Amino acid sequence: MSSDIISKLKELDDLPALPQTAKKVIDILNKPDFSFAELVSVISKDMNITASILKLANSALYSPKSEIRNLTQAITFLGATNIKNLVIALSTKTLFENFKASLLIQKVWEHSVAVAIYSRIVALKISNKISEEVFLIGMLHDLGIIIMNQYIKNYEEMISEIYGTEESLYEKEKELFDITHAEVGAKLVELWNLPGIYSDAIKYHHSSEDSKYKEYTKIVEYSDLVLSKNNMNIVSFTDENRIEQLRNEFGIDVETSDEIDEMFNEVYQYEKELFKL
Ligand SMILES: [Fe+2]
Ligand SMILES: [Fe+2]
Repeated sequence: MSSDIISKLKELDDLPALPQTAKKVIDILNKPDFSFAELVSVISKDMNITASILKLANSALYSPKSEIRNLTQAITFLGATNIKNLVIALSTKTLFENFKASLLIQKVWEHSVAVAIYSRIVALKISNKISEEVFLIGMLHDLGIIIMNQYIKNYEEMISEIYGTEESLYEKEKELFDITHAEVGAKLVELWNLPGIYSDAIKYHHSSEDSKYKEYTKIVEYSDLVLSKNNMNIVSFTDENRIEQLRNEFGIDVETSDEIDEMFNEVYQYEKELFKL
């Protein structure tokens, strides 16, 4: 492995920028006196995102009392923070499209959407709240993989080699490159100025005991492992003991776990098209 690739990755020169709509939404919400009108005007310029927000606001997950017909209603109903996270999540797809198209990128995208949806359901089951934070962490958690694939020759081959084995991608990256997709992804969102919870949770999604935001990071780690077990990941490595341990911590019994899987399958079918899977 050439050392300039590694130093480049460590410095993260030349990284993709956060998509425009997401950036503008974050800028508006960072102002102490932002107006809803401003937010609506920025988001409504992106037809895909607008349509997806309306569809999501009317979905069974949020089940509004009456139909949400426009963005102003959706923002009032979901709250500005949720909207911000949704816009970032929905624009993540553009980011994936900027990279060289490959089966790997497509699979990482599908996996990310699955982890995002699964995490949101787990959070809902264990704390009875809809957590758009875990949703967004799930969406972004493996972004480092697409960056590493861009810079490291044979990265995709390395992944296909470990598929079907008991090897963990995270450990393999440590061994080969001394930097992991978790660290790279964390640096990327730091560069975008997302709040600290995102870089922390992404950095520790394979070692959540070290996270400052364990209650979020553990949910994403759990969802990632469960979905790997169900063949919804680019690698087949999973850790049954860790799944069991987290399940006990969350107080998820067999029945609840089945309910989560069932709800996931339903929501995933519904939300698939929003995220262009
Ligand atoms: Fe990962
Ligand atoms: Fe993952």
